[in-house]
Amino acid sequence: MIKIKNIYKSFGEKVILKGVNLTVGKGETFLMIGRSGAGKTVLLKNIIGLLTPDIGSVYIDGVDITQLKKKQLEKVRLQFGIVFQHSALFDFLNVGENVGFFLYQYTKLTKKEIREKVKDTLALVGLEGIEDLYPYELSGGMQKRVAIARAVIYKPKIIIYDEPTTGIDPIAVDKIVSLIEDLHHRLSITSLVVTHDLEVGLKLADRLAFLLGGKIIFEGDKKDLDETKDERLKQFLSGSSGGPIKEMEV
Ligand SMILES: Nc1ncnc2c1ncn2[C@@H]1O[C@H](COP(=O)(O)OP(=O)(O)O)[C@@H](O)[C@H]1O
Ligand SMILES: [Mg+2]
Repeated sequence: MIKIKNIYKSFGEKVILKGVNLTVGKGETFLMIGRSGAGKTVLLKNIIGLLTPDIGSVYIDGVDITQLKKKQLEKVRLQFGIVFQHSALFDFLNVGENVGFFLYQYTKLTKKEIREKVKDTLALVGLEGIEDLYPYELSGGMQKRVAIARAVIYKPKIIIYDEPTTGIDPIAVDKIVSLIEDLHHRLSITSLVVTHDLEVGLKLADRLAFLLGGKIIFEGDKKDLDETKDERLKQFLSGSSGGPIKEMEV
């Protein structure tokens, strides 16, 4: 579903991605871990075509999106549901308008049809009847769920979660984790989860990759983690400040 081949990305002198390769299979939940500033979000933006790699290719369902024109790229982007780190709801729209946003924008459905779909999708994330509230009236965890509803309403093939549980309380975290699992099963969707919360990530994922120094230094099955001999991965997993990874190294 997603195949990244040898991508490089720099901002000015700063090289963030230095030859990243990655494959995410159809229907898989894939976890990307790495320190803050490692380039996880930059990598995601390359995958959804918000950034173009300096070198390398990004294949989505067999199509190299780095070669597409703007219009074609917009079409491919509609295959993605994206939940950003900061829920990024529109403050000036109510929940119903936020969740229905892409349907109002990109389809010819009537208002009534969209309202119906919004209602169903809010029920899917456990938030019935809050259409008329505004984002500032919701807790952080609820905002995340609204953002998830907005992302899944148009039935994307791939859903991308960037730090879905960062900055919300533990009970809300648990709710989000269950919701992601539930959606995965119900919609049989391909999911890519980026987080530095290992507990959350490992609960959700089948396979994972560890981004360090601009490269994927581990890619494998969750169950391979216990046997890893890579000292850098072991250090990250144990959350220890002592080890081969230096304080400034991301
Ligand atoms: N548009 C940009 N312009 C310049 N630097 C950027 C830009 N986006 C990200 N960076 C830099 O790239 C590095 C990786 O950022 P990011 O992908 O957000 O890390 P994280 O792994 O925490 O998601 C950081 O040093 C950040 O400052
Ligand atoms: Mg990030």
